[in-house]
Amino acid sequence: MAERWIGTHRIGFAWGDRLILAVTHRNEKHLIGTVGLGIERDHDRAELGYWIGRPYWNRGYATEAVGAIIGYGFQELGLNRIHALHFSRNTASGRVMQKVGMAHEGRLRQHVRKWGVYEDVEVYGVVREEYDAARTPAPALQNGGEEAGYGLPHPDKG
Ligand SMILES: CC(C)(COP(=O)(O)OP(=O)(O)OC[C@H]1O[C@@H](n2cnc3c(N)ncnc32)[C@H](O)[C@@H]1OP(=O)(O)O)[C@@H](O)C(=O)NCCC(=O)NCCS
Repeated sequence: MAERWIGTHRIGFAWGDRLILAVTHRNEKHLIGTVGLGIERDHDRAELGYWIGRPYWNRGYATEAVGAIIGYGFQELGLNRIHALHFSRNTASGRVMQKVGMAHEGRLRQHVRKWGVYEDVEVYGVVREEYDAARTPAPALQNGGEEAGYGLPHPDKG
């Protein structure tokens, strides 16, 4: 089943409607998770999804990977909006969305039925204007100050 799912990634990328990337450990080199965008070109928007293997939780890996793919989505894919959903009870996932600068846009009550239980879902999103503004240093910080960011270098900064 996993192989069949992985086998669809290249086709999705070729069609321009899906980008699924492996998250690999920088030192150990093996797969520790995935991060992806389901792209809707008519609206220049994408839905973000991700997971990290349990032994690697709480080390900042999801935040790093999500920040990078958001940067890629705006800078390279020319998206205008990226959104994501998480079960309300999955607070760690919500925390990742907050840490990368996504805004909480609302709660979809009993939106999903999972194993017979109707579950609330939280909606987060970020639009291009916010992304660009977060990457523009405040005047007081321009000389060497730290920049708020989403994981990829700003195109004007090389
Ligand atoms: C959600 C998930 C991707 C997080 O991955 P991760 O690599 O552990 O995430 P990070 O380390 O970057 O950040 C996790 C944050 O959640 C916090 N956190 C962890 N467990 C938490 C909990 N039970 N309640 C509240 N916050 C929690 C961590 O403290 C950390 O925040 P901090 O940096 O402010 O301390 C991972 O748990 C996962 O794959 N879960 C299963 C699949 C899933 O839920 N995918 C997302 C679907 S929307």
